[in-house]
Parts: sequence; structure tokens; C-alpha cells
Amino acid sequence: MAAPLYAIPGTTAAAVEPAQVTPARTVAEVLAQSQVESVLDELERNLVGLAPVKQRIRDIAALLVIDKLRVARGLQAQAPSLHMSFTGNPGTGKTTVALRMAEILHRLGYVRKGHLVAVTRDDLVGQYIGHTAPKTKEVLNKAMGGVLFIDEAYYLYRPDNERDYGQEAIEILLQVMENQRDDLVVIVAGYKERMDTFFRSNPGLSSRIAHHLEFPDYSVAELREIAERMLVQMSYRFDDDARAAFAEYLALRVAQPHFANARSVRNALDRARLRQASRLFAQRERELSADDLATVSGADIRASRHFRDAAAPPR
Ligand SMILES: Nc1ncnc2c1ncn2[C@@H]1O[C@H](COP(=O)(O)OP(=O)(O)OP(=O)(O)O)[C@@H](O)[C@H]1O
Ligand SMILES: [Mg+2]
Repeated sequence: MAAPLYAIPGTTAAAVEPAQVTPARTVAEVLAQSQVESVLDELERNLVGLAPVKQRIRDIAALLVIDKLRVARGLQAQAPSLHMSFTGNPGTGKTTVALRMAEILHRLGYVRKGHLVAVTRDDLVGQYIGHTAPKTKEVLNKAMGGVLFIDEAYYLYRPDNERDYGQEAIEILLQVMENQRDDLVVIVAGYKERMDTFFRSNPGLSSRIAHHLEFPDYSVAELREIAERMLVQMSYRFDDDARAAFAEYLALRVAQPHFANARSVRNALDRARLRQASRLFAQRERELSADDLATVSGADIRASRHFRDAAAPPR
């Protein structure tokens, strides 16, 4: 088991370090021991855009690394509050970043296990009197030692309904966020405006959240890059015509309602793969090369209903 990062007041630094590991004295040593850099590098490499989000994560990692060195030198190191809010539209990478965050916190010894438990209101709040507290506590127990990710957290609070049980869940959460913050990080996520309203009505919650990270919508250029990376991961590639068609497709799609950023890109690629498969399936006798099997063509993209809808005369 990993040694706890933070010394209990009154104990010495030596007491919290496992005997066989020499306490780190340099940043490089902490990085080497925790192997946190590989997660940071992966975040940098695999996630397109999101520069401010990546910077904040590096800042948090730096704080934890320096805290480790402080503990090793016998200095006071109080567990910093790391509860966070991730705001942004669907498909902007909130869940993906939360998973990485959990891993970083684990590698730096902030949480024991580093798993992520993702929930929504229905997982926390009961329908009947007396059901909410046990539900919320069960979720908290599962999440302990890791990250509790509450998607669309504002649904916990329903001011229009006086007898709503959401408030009960919020109160239990608040207590745990305060008292067990060295073993559980809570991340609340959702749309920016709704989250702002939610925080205004719940100052207790807002004041316990140290980091507010905003996930902006991706630009078309970023979405194109995201598509290229997703294809590589799946061993597919666009030919030149498909690349051009996909750029046109994105220009149409970003302007339409229900566009969900990187999630819509993934869905569009899944549908293009289906069309590619049907196209190849029809060529019964032809020997299919690896290149044939890997290539998404312009036709596979242009057959999307979004092109047809856009071409249809307005009704
Ligand atoms: N910056 C990025 N670079 C590459 N892929 C990304 C990026 N952001 C998101 N993705 C991919 O897009 C998909 C959706 O991302 P994710 O689920 O993290 O978004 P979300 O903000 O949690 O969305 P929702 O609000 O709908 O839950 C995932 O498959 C993820 O890998
Ligand atoms: Mg999500």
C-alpha cells in the first residue's frame, strides 16, 4: 500500500515513508518514484487543445510534488483541498480529464486507490423518505480513496420542490468533502450557466471547491485533429477526399443543435466505419488489402444524412 502523503500532526516525516524507499529530495526523484510524468505526457499527447485545463493539472501536480518534498523535510503539509468543478458543453472532455486526474492524484499519493466513480442525481437521491442518506453513503463508500464524479450536479438541487431529497444528499456530501478531503476528491460537472446558478444557491458547496476548470467548445480545426487521432487509434485513416469531406461535415455540424463536440466526432466516425464496411462488403470477389480495409473514403463521409439535410430546400 502507498504511504500516505500527509503527515498526521505530531508524527514525523520518517513515520509516513516506507522504510525501503529513501525519501525524495528533488522534484526529479518524486517524478521518478511516482511515475506521474507519463500520465501528464499522455494527457499532453492524447488530448487536443484544452491548454488552460492541462496547465491547471500541471499546477496541481506541482503542488503535490512539492508537498511530498516538504513532508520529507519535516515541514507542515496540510492536505490541500482538491475538489473541483468541470464546466463545459457535452463532449468537451470532462469525463476523460477526470479519469486522468484520478490517476495523477493516486500516483502522487493523494488518494489511496485512484479509481473514479461517476454518478448522477439518481445514484445519490432516493424517491422516498429515508432512502437518500443510505444511497449517498453507499456511493461515498465506493468512491473513498478515489474520485467521485457527479455529472450534471445541479440536478441535486431543486428549489421548486421544498420536500426534495436532493438537499439531504448535498449536506452529506458537504460533510465528507470537508472531513475526508485527504481521501476523496469530488468533481462536479455540467453546463457552465447551470453550475453557476447552482453554486450561487449553495455557497457551502461552492466554497469547498478549490478549482474551477472550464472546458471550451472545440474549434473546427481541433475537431479535425481529434478525428485524425481517433482514426489512428482505431487503425483507420481518411483518404484526401474523406479529409476534405469531413471538414465540410464539421462546418455544417457545429452550427446545428445537439452538436456534442468530440463525442459527435466519435459518433460520426462510427457511422463512417459502418458505411465503409457496407461499401467493401458489396465488393464480394475483390481481394481487400490492408489499405482498403483501413481507408475511409470521401463517399463514406458524404453519405451522411447531415449533407442531405443541408442540401434540402428549406421547408
Ligand atoms: N481534447 C480531446 N482530444 C481527443 N479526444 C477527446 C478530447 N476531448 C474529448 N475527446 C473524446 O471525446 C469523447 C467524449 O469525451 P468525454 O466523455 O470526456 O466528454 P464529456 O465532456 O464528459 O461529455 P459529456 O458531457 O457528454 O459527458 C471521448 O471519446 C474522448 O476520448
Ligand atoms: Mg462525461
